[in-house]
Amino acid sequence: MKPIVIYYSRKGSNEYLARKIAGRLSCDMEAIRPRLNAFSLFLMNLNPGIRSLKRQIADYDRIILVGPIFMGHFIPPLRSFVKKYNARIKEMVFVTCCGSTFLKKNEKFGHGLVFNEVKSMLNERLLLTQAFPVGLVLPESQQEDPDAFMKAHLNDSNFKGKIADVFEDFMEQLSAPLPAG
Ligand SMILES: Cc1cc2nc3c(=O)[nH]c(=O)nc-3n(C[C@H](O)[C@H](O)[C@H](O)COP(=O)(O)O)c2cc1C
Repeated sequence: MKPIVIYYSRKGSNEYLARKIAGRLSCDMEAIRPRLNAFSLFLMNLNPGIRSLKRQIADYDRIILVGPIFMGHFIPPLRSFVKKYNARIKEMVFVTCCGSTFLKKNEKFGHGLVFNEVKSMLNERLLLTQAFPVGLVLPESQQEDPDAFMKAHLNDSNFKGKIADVFEDFMEQLSAPLPAG
């Protein structure tokens, strides 16, 4: 099994997560580079496209795609990656460090709706999805507070407790044989 971690991150949390996964799997990793890194476009779900990756996607058995959710969207850089490389993706796992909690995943801006969209693009090639709600690094009293979790970022000093447990469970699922989605 030769996986690669492909990621996009604006403020660093998804890059942190991508590095953690690639480190654990000792695999390659590459950032998605939008043609125009314009956050305002991404918020409106407008897609400026992405530059070609340096790695050959067809050389990998499994893509682990990591990136944030903005305004309830499967954001343009991630969507462009799937569209551009669709024919070369054999299997994919989608991971997001996002704001939405597990409890609210199916609400308007929840990660559950984005997971459905990714699923509709890849069907059975999407093996697994995993959210890492960034609020898990906050004290419980602040986890539902949008102001607090919008300011939270993953780093070595806060990646412990509940979020580290979610990470260990996720890595365990990744290492088990995954049924086609
Ligand atoms: C303007 C804005 C909109 C956001 N919209 C959503 C959303 O709709 N759903 C969600 O789960 N998280 C949302 N988030 C939270 C981000 O997904 C979260 O902060 C993520 O960790 C950022 O990743 P990064 O540090 O890799 O850029 C939003 C954040 C910002 C700044």
